[in-house]
Amino acid sequence: MEVFNSKKKIKKAISALKAKNKTIGLVPTMGALHIGHASLIKRGLAENDMVVVSIFVNPTQFDNVSDLEKYPRTLQRDVALLNKVSKDKIIVYSPSVEDIYENNIASTSFSFDGLEFEMEGKFRKGHFDGVGTIVKRFFEIVKPHNAYFGEKDFQQLQIIKKLVEKQNLEVNVVGCEIYREPNGLAMSSRNERLTAKQQNEAPFIYKTLQEAKLKFKAMSAQKVSEWVVKEFTKNIHLELEYFIIADTETLKPIKRKSVKKNYRAFIAAYAGEIRLIDNIALN
Ligand code: PAJ
Repeated sequence: MEVFNSKKKIKKAISALKAKNKTIGLVPTMGALHIGHASLIKRGLAENDMVVVSIFVNPTQFDNVSDLEKYPRTLQRDVALLNKVSKDKIIVYSPSVEDIYENNIASTSFSFDGLEFEMEGKFRKGHFDGVGTIVKRFFEIVKPHNAYFGEKDFQQLQIIKKLVEKQNLEVNVVGCEIYREPNGLAMSSRNERLTAKQQNEAPFIYKTLQEAKLKFKAMSAQKVSEWVVKEFTKNIHLELEYFIIADTETLKPIKRKSVKKNYRAFIAAYAGEIRLIDNIALN
C-alpha cells in the first residue's frame, strides 16, 4: 500500500489513475482507525476503483490545544488495519501540517446557512470552519468522484453536503450508516478510553434513542425530550449534555411535528470525561 506524505506526489499518482479512467473515492479521517472507519472504506471500495484514505489530525478544527495534542496518532497501526481491508485498492495520504497549511494554520470562514450554529456548533466554537477548510482542501488535492462521511457525525455530513452545494464542488457526497458495537454503542476511538463500568453503561445512550424513536410516534417532541432527560437523571454514570429532535435538513429543533418532514434525534452525553455522541432517524 502506498502512503503519500506530500500533496505534490499524491496529485501525480491520482492524475495517472484518472488518465486510465479509474474512479476515485475519498474517505477523510483523523486516523486512530477502527471498524467504523473501515465500514466507510469498504463502501468506497465497492463503488470506486481506488479509495484514498486521508489520515490527518486537523489542527484548525480543535478549539482546545490539549485535545489536539492528546489526539492519538497511530499511523503504523492504521496502515496495518487498512492492509487487511485491501492491499492494492487503497492509497493513504498522511500529510504533515506544513504540507496542508504551509505557513498559515487558519480556517476559512464559511456560511453553512445556519447548520453550523446548531448542536455541536454551540459547544465547539470554530469547529465546522476547520472541518470545511480541511475537507475542501482534500477535495481540491484528491479530486475524488465520491467522498464518504459517517452519519455518526450527522451534522458534519450535512455541512459537507452544504459546502459542496454552495461552492459548486464536483464531488458526490455519500452518507454512511453508523457502525455500532454489538451492544449498540456507536463505534468511536473514544470507546477504548471508557472504563469497564462505563463500557457497560454507555449502550444506554443508543437504547434511550431507540425508545425515544418509539415514543415519538405518539408523543410530542417536548414530551419525548422530557422523558429522555428524566431517564438520564436516573443514570448516575452518564451525564446528558443535550437531547434534540431536529429537522434532518435544517438541523433546527422541531417546533411542530409535520408529516412532510424528516426528523432525527441527536444526543451528546458524558461518561466521566469522555464525550459521546449518537443519533437516530425518527421517520
Ligand atoms: P474522524 O473522527 O476520524 O472520522 C472520519 C469519518 O469516519 C467521519 O466521516 C466519521 O463520521 C466516520 N465515522 C467515525 N465513526 C463512525 C462509525 N461508528 N460509523 C460510521 N462512520 C463513522 O470526522 C473526522 O474524522 C474529521 O472531522 C474529518 C472529516 C476527517 C475532517 O478532519
